[in-house]
Amino acid sequence: MTTATSILPRYDVSRDYRWNYDHAPEAVEVDVLSMPGEWTFLGRKVASPLGVPAGPLLNGKWILYYASLGFDVLTYKTVRSSYRECYPLPNLLPVRTQQLRGGEHVLDAEERMSGSWAVSFGMPSMDPDVWRRDIEWTRARLRSDQVLSVSVVGTAQPGGTLDELADDYALCARWAVESGADCIETNFSCPNVCSRDGHLYQEPTPAGVVAQRVREAIGATPYLLKIGHFTESDSASQLLKAVSRYVDGLAMTNSVAATVRDAAGNVMFDGQKRGICGDATREASVSQVRMFAEIMEEWGRPLALIGVGGASSAAHVDEYLDAGAEAVHIATAAIVDPLVGCRILTEFNA
Ligand SMILES: Cc1cc2nc3c(=O)[nH]c(=O)nc-3n(C[C@H](O)[C@H](O)[C@H](O)COP(=O)(O)O)c2cc1C
Repeated sequence: MTTATSILPRYDVSRDYRWNYDHAPEAVEVDVLSMPGEWTFLGRKVASPLGVPAGPLLNGKWILYYASLGFDVLTYKTVRSSYRECYPLPNLLPVRTQQLRGGEHVLDAEERMSGSWAVSFGMPSMDPDVWRRDIEWTRARLRSDQVLSVSVVGTAQPGGTLDELADDYALCARWAVESGADCIETNFSCPNVCSRDGHLYQEPTPAGVVAQRVREAIGATPYLLKIGHFTESDSASQLLKAVSRYVDGLAMTNSVAATVRDAAGNVMFDGQKRGICGDATREASVSQVRMFAEIMEEWGRPLALIGVGGASSAAHVDEYLDAGAEAVHIATAAIVDPLVGCRILTEFNA
């Protein structure tokens, strides 16, 4: 960790979501080098391929902070059509692990962060009145060449229908666009919730129904689908077939799911899996980007691919770009070191 890192404020993992929501740092003035080359995000010109995915940016103040630190696409953490509490602490629990492939069953929690952690928020959301006003406030303060992407999720009600879920996704997406979002991301993958919205990416036909409904609600606004971990190209093809006519791009990989055990050997989080994020997901995610790029090349119908998972250096960004990604978004490393974007830009200029 550099000295400069230690003086910059960060998300405090020992405190809860609400505390961090209320204690967003102010934007800072740091030297941000420009990225050599020309870059786009879903067809829009941007200064670099670097962005922050849904997660670290809890509200507009967090977005402006990271926008001052070399990130050009800023994703507003997933919001819902009604208020939802966050899961209790720990929300971010370091784990000991090698690169994950997806067949792992139990990982050990560890005290110190060594690159990867279990993420356990349960997609909380402020009331729509709050996030809608905040998106408007945020868009007005970002530079015109920075992109504000808003991640939304539908809330599956017990006994509810797919139609109702699709309408709920579409409602959130429409509200976000009305408030000034430049791009909509629908989260179709959250290993930390058991309801259907958490695993829609594994259900091609319902995924297509929701994606179509969202597209109808947002018109021509750029539309990104966030998906989870795939290893089989057949399943990837089926999802693509169902959604590709409605979306402009896919962001992958949300995380790789695993169960976590504490130091005493007890299974945590009531035995439910949690999404593991950070360094250990990079190889799986880069392979997944490559697999999707190859399928789309065969079909001749390319969508933009956003590489997410385990990136923390220029070499990692290059791995994703070489695999076929248009952009690379960084969550864990950006929380651990808010200067990671500036450092990557310096590496690209060396
Ligand atoms: C603190 C935190 C909160 C997250 N919350 C969300 C979320 O609300 N919606 C979502 O789609 N993904 C969420 N994610 C997943 C990230 O968008 C990303 O897919 C994942 O962290 C992998 O990237 P990384 O290895 O750079 O962390 C979250 C991740 C972290 C670390």
